[in-house]
Amino acid sequence: MSERLSVLYNKKPCYDIVFQQSFEGLWPELEALGCAEKRLCVVTDSRVADLYGKELLTCLEGKCKKAVLYAFPEGEENKTLDTVRGIYRYLIREGLDRRDMLLALGGGVVGDVTGYAAATYLRGIDFVQLPTTLLAQADSSIGGKTGVDFDGYKNMVGAFKMPRLVYMNLSVLQTLDSRQYFSGFGEIMKHGLIKDAGFYEWLIENMYEICERDLNVLQEMLFRSCTVKKLVVERDPLEAGERALLNFGHTIGHAIEKAKDFQLLHGECVALGAIAAAYISWKRELLSMDEYYEIRDMFVPFYLPISVEGIDPDEILRLTKSDKKMESGRIKFVLLKKIGRAVLDSTVTDDEILAAVREIHFSEEDAHA
Ligand code: GLY
Repeated sequence: MSERLSVLYNKKPCYDIVFQQSFEGLWPELEALGCAEKRLCVVTDSRVADLYGKELLTCLEGKCKKAVLYAFPEGEENKTLDTVRGIYRYLIREGLDRRDMLLALGGGVVGDVTGYAAATYLRGIDFVQLPTTLLAQADSSIGGKTGVDFDGYKNMVGAFKMPRLVYMNLSVLQTLDSRQYFSGFGEIMKHGLIKDAGFYEWLIENMYEICERDLNVLQEMLFRSCTVKKLVVERDPLEAGERALLNFGHTIGHAIEKAKDFQLLHGECVALGAIAAAYISWKRELLSMDEYYEIRDMFVPFYLPISVEGIDPDEILRLTKSDKKMESGRIKFVLLKKIGRAVLDSTVTDDEILAAVREIHFSEEDAHA
């Protein structure tokens, strides 16, 4: 059964998030956006092109003015301005103008890069998000953040550009590689932890069906997870305040991602960062010790790491300071007041960060203790 959420921007309907279990419903959605009169360019990466490129083009061909596909090599290392340049060149060659549209088919990297190309090509053309990973469906395809990494800084260059539609074919999750699938729970659990204790409980109760990838349960899970994100981005679309709560787990998470040279997936690093932030919350007596350990251990059944080897806490501290979530030299940290209620805090000290990183650092000494 298909469901939808309408996302507002400045209190007016801006785009719908559509939850479907195949790509069959895509064309009617695009037709309603006037796509019969448009040239459409599917932008994807090499892996997703092999999996769904043909199926997507078959959905479009003969229905719109022109349908083409551009694929760039997969991987976070390609989230760069060079990839955006490749997209511009292809769009120029295929003659796309401002009335035409890009379709971002893939995970977070594809969505962010394509969105940035859409925000800037001809000073902006429309784009649609077709997220194919759990991370992209739960988080990155919603809310209009687009961009690329730059000189080793994550998401350093970018723009806010709202999509015209987010269309989720949930059946793609059933064949998603297991590590990719479970890494999505870093962001999903984050939504429960920061805003919706009931959803967090629901995740625990439905763990078995979630691990089995029962489609109806996945649909309910994404509907609830996207509802949290929708409500936050509607209230603060450009991250003037409350939206920063969505960065829970990201300050230390991004630092670990970088220190480990992107060997760990984004969601895995968010899980580690969330545990570190929950640890600081416990030490400040915002959370009880039981709550802290419950949060930490809740990542285990979703195959997410709760400790990491081979990091240098001092290096992680240094990297947290080069993250762009700084304001006047202070890190905007997100802590938990309780499960389901996050708060922004600019007073977290270096010592608190170091203690939290040591808590999630797995060292040889721990192994022999
Ligand atoms: N992923 C955080 C945000 O969209 O604001």
